[in-house]
Amino acid sequence: MEANVPKRKEPGKSLRIKVISMGNAEVGKSCIIKRYCEKRFVSKYLATIGIDYGVTKVQVRDREIKVNIFDMAGHPFFYEVRNEFYKDTQGVILVYDVGQKDSFDALDAWLAEMKQDLGPHGNMENIVFVVCANKIDCAKHRCVDESEGRLWAESKGFLYFETSAQTGEGINEMFQTFYVSIVDLCDNGGKRPITNSSASFTKEQADTIRRIRNSKDSWDMLGVKPGASRDEVNKAYRRLAVLLHPDKCVAPGSEDAFKAVVSARTALLKNIK
Ligand code: GTP
Ligand code: MG
Repeated sequence: MEANVPKRKEPGKSLRIKVISMGNAEVGKSCIIKRYCEKRFVSKYLATIGIDYGVTKVQVRDREIKVNIFDMAGHPFFYEVRNEFYKDTQGVILVYDVGQKDSFDALDAWLAEMKQDLGPHGNMENIVFVVCANKIDCAKHRCVDESEGRLWAESKGFLYFETSAQTGEGINEMFQTFYVSIVDLCDNGGKRPITNSSASFTKEQADTIRRIRNSKDSWDMLGVKPGASRDEVNKAYRRLAVLLHPDKCVAPGSEDAFKAVVSARTALLKNIK
């Protein structure tokens, strides 16, 4: 049995699990947990010092679950404290602030920190991850849109929720789905259940959508050199159209990427003899 899988109990019996929060400082990790456990929101920023620990009981189907929550400080200063707490975890709440691109870009580094601290025998496959795109109430400042966040999460097989600790939007739904997935994982011998979304699009599709989003001009978007011929543009277009056509591709953001590719081709062909 894997190290981070709690002892299997008879169905209906209680289960004890460990979950941790991860993500940059100030993204709202503590507020998300407070909103769920205490039904309140604190607008003043009180940075977590090292780790906050709490225990809560939740009901999942016929099962009583005792949840040990380790709420981590996001500030790099607390790395030495955090690294003690990654092991024996069944669930991770991975949070970013939709108004702070840096906090979204940092998600890979958080996974890397966890992987490093778990060491060569640690297995991240046996852990349920839920990504919270938090502070969606601050719509005016939003700079990471839903499809970008969802694409990152779902291409890794992680759950994805849009949340606001301030208004409570998405919080109960997120925790409920998270706990159900952890219980399913424990019942499944410690293997993360395959979600529909993780199996429904390929890494090539996800990488292509990301590349299209970040492209600097129409040539770059189609992946051809500036000055390419009509044939080269059409060939590149056809390849992308087959890969991303909304009838074939259900990856988040594929429809916008497809439309962008169509516009890029039209714009380029106008100027090529
Ligand atoms: P560290 O403990 O330093 O890692 O930060 P944290 O991720 O735990 O952040 P915390 O929950 O302390 O929240 C940081 C700030 O963001 C606080 O001022 C919160 O009031 C605010 N905040 C948290 N969630 C939300 C939200 O959903 N919407 C808005 N508008 N503000 C939020
Ligand atoms: Mg905190």
